[in-house]
Amino acid sequence: MNPFKFGTIVEGDFFTDRVEETTLLTQKLDSENHLVLISPRRLGKSSLVQKVLNQTTRPQIQIDMQYVVSVGDFAAQLLRALFRLYPFERIRHAMTHFRVAPTVSVNAVTGALEVTFQPTANATVMLEDAMSLLDKVTSPDNRFIVVIDEFQEVVKIAKGFDRQLRSLMQRQRNLNYILLGSQESMMAAIFEKKTSPFYHFGQVVRLGKIPYADFHSYISDRMPQQVPSLAEEILEITDCHPYYTQQLSSQVWEMMTYQNITEDVVGRAMSALVRMHDLDYERLWQTLNRTDRYTLRQLALSHQPLQNRSQATSTSYSSLVRLMKLGYVVKTTQYELEDPFFLRWIRQNNM
Ligand SMILES: Nc1ncnc2c1ncn2[C@@H]1O[C@H](COP(=O)(O)OP(=O)(O)OP(=O)(O)O)[C@@H](O)[C@H]1O
Ligand SMILES: [Mg+2]
Repeated sequence: MNPFKFGTIVEGDFFTDRVEETTLLTQKLDSENHLVLISPRRLGKSSLVQKVLNQTTRPQIQIDMQYVVSVGDFAAQLLRALFRLYPFERIRHAMTHFRVAPTVSVNAVTGALEVTFQPTANATVMLEDAMSLLDKVTSPDNRFIVVIDEFQEVVKIAKGFDRQLRSLMQRQRNLNYILLGSQESMMAAIFEKKTSPFYHFGQVVRLGKIPYADFHSYISDRMPQQVPSLAEEILEITDCHPYYTQQLSSQVWEMMTYQNITEDVVGRAMSALVRMHDLDYERLWQTLNRTDRYTLRQLALSHQPLQNRSQATSTSYSSLVRLMKLGYVVKTTQYELEDPFFLRWIRQNNM
C-alpha cells in the first residue's frame, strides 16, 4: 500500500513530528485554558488536533464555522453534537430550562437526530440555552473539549456574534476550547487585537512546516528503492509543506513501484502532477484579474522566489493581500506561492 497520504487527516504511521506541539496541546487540555491554532490551509492543524484527541477519552465536540449559517444554526449544531454523545433522555432532562424548545427528529435513513429551532425564535436565546446545556453536561471529571474549525468565520455569521459567544464562553468552567483557523490575518485580528472580544482568549500557536531532517527520513524510509538525493529533490520542491510533500512523495512512490521509473523520477512525478491539475489551474487563472496574475507570475518567475519578497511595493501590496486572503500566497519570512505545483504551472505557461 502507498505509504504516503494526502488530503485527509493523517494518523498513526502517516503522521510525523509535531512533538513539541503535541506536548503543548496536551498540557493545555490539562488546564483550564484554551488554545488557538493558526496555520495556512493544509499544514496539519486537523491532524495534530486529532492526534491529541485520540489520546484522551474526554467527550469531544467538533464544529466547523464554515458550515454555520446563522447564530441559531450554531446553537442547533451544538445540540446535535450533544445528542450524538448522550442518550436522548439524558439530554432531554437537562433541557428543561430551555426558553425556546427545539424540534428533534430522527432521520429515517441515517438514524441521526436532527435539531431545528422555529425560524422565528430569538437567536440569542437559542445560543444561551444551548451553551448552558453544555455547562450542565461538562463537569470536573468529565471535562469537554470543544474544537471549532475555521473560527475566523465567526465575524461573518452575524454582527455581535463574536461578542455574545465570548461572554458565554468566559463564564464556562471545566472545558477546553481549541479554536482553529487558516486565515492568518483574520485570526490575528480576532485574538491579538486589543479591541476584539476574543483578545487574549487563549494561547495562540502558529503551526509551521515539518522540520527538514524529520521529513527527509520519513520519505527515505518509505520509498521502494533507495535512490540518492530523492528526498532532497522532493523537499527542495515542496519546502517541507506537509500536504504537498505527501502528494509528491505519493506520486514518486507510484511511479517507482508500478512503472519501475528511477531516472529523474521526481521531475517526472512533478510533471505528471502539474498535468493532472492543469484544468483546475487554468480555471483558477481565469478568475484572477490582471494585477493578481502579474503578482503571481512575479512570485513564480523570480529566480529566488523564496527570498527578497519581504519588501513589496505599495502597488503590488493590495494584490498580495487579496491573494493571501484567497490562499494562493502565504507569507512566512517572505511572500511565496502556497502551491508548488501551481508555481510550476505558472512557470510553464509564462515562459
Ligand atoms: N504530522 C504530519 N505528518 C505527515 N503529514 C502530515 C502531517 N500533518 C499533515 N500532513 C499532511 O498534510 C495534509 C493536510 O493535513 P490536515 O488536513 O491535518 O491540515 P489542515 O491544516 O487541517 O488543513 P485544512 O486547512 O484543509 O483544514 C494531510 O493530508 C497530510 O498529507
Ligand atoms: Mg483541517
